[in-house]
Amino acid sequence: MIEIRKLKISFNSHVVLSHVDLTIENGDSIVIIGGSGCGKTVLLRSIIGLIKPDAGTIRVNGEEITRMDRKDLFRIRKKFGMLFQGAALFDSMTVEENIGLALKEHTDLSADEIQKRVQEKLNVVGLPGIEEKKPAELSGGMKKRVGLARALIMDPEFVLFDEPTTGLDPVMADAINHLIIETHRKFNITSIVVTHDMSSAYQIADRIAMLHDGRIIFSGPPSAIKKSELTIVKQFVKGSGGLIHGFESS
Ligand SMILES: Nc1ncnc2c1ncn2[C@@H]1O[C@H](COP(=O)(O)OP(=O)(O)OP(=O)(O)O)[C@@H](O)[C@H]1O
Ligand SMILES: [Mg+2]
Repeated sequence: MIEIRKLKISFNSHVVLSHVDLTIENGDSIVIIGGSGCGKTVLLRSIIGLIKPDAGTIRVNGEEITRMDRKDLFRIRKKFGMLFQGAALFDSMTVEENIGLALKEHTDLSADEIQKRVQEKLNVVGLPGIEEKKPAELSGGMKKRVGLARALIMDPEFVLFDEPTTGLDPVMADAINHLIIETHRKFNITSIVVTHDMSSAYQIADRIAMLHDGRIIFSGPPSAIKKSELTIVKQFVKGSGGLIHGFESS
């Protein structure tokens, strides 16, 4: 379970998150929506301790992480997989090296065992046999799937997805959404998905939270967000797709 309380994060004098309260239960599939630049990526990065907040707390399975030392933080981070915005694969490495990197660096597994686990994850994301390819040889959708395989390699409890379908055609976006739902169910993973795209949000979410002006202004099931009376929420839900996609940064 992840419990975020009174989280405040600013850069110099720019307050990005002013007061975020959010609880994510184990087994949840939560989607975080919000306009470009509202702090969704910052929020995800803070959950794995990559950004230190100015104030507030983040508890992961009861342990407060914001003031943890490196060693403890490292132990907590192993519970997480992250699919970074834009996939963030290393161009100079093969697919196998990209996916297996964490196993190579943080476990004592043999090269054969690492290879076996990489193959397993490539099967999960529907891309068997591409171990030797380089990221430059892959389509956008394939890169996202390799990114997902990498996020799953340590068998995480929580997976954070930052804009998993941005930049993909609708068919590929749909395939990625299904993969997210499937991995969530199959591996009993708690998923936290950031997206601009309401149709993805409806497909994936048990619960949708909207970030606006440094706070969570709405949190509830997909059926409830359609009925929200908040102007900002209504605008986002109706206007999403066309307008907001036009401002996407990646
Ligand atoms: N390391 C940093 N240093 C300074 N400012 C930052 C840093 N990271 C993020 N910001 C600022 O915080 C704000 C929120 O950024 P963030 O990337 O979280 O937005 P986002 O909601 O993920 O947007 P998008 O939907 O475009 O990905 C932006 O104004 C950004 O410039
Ligand atoms: Mg972002």
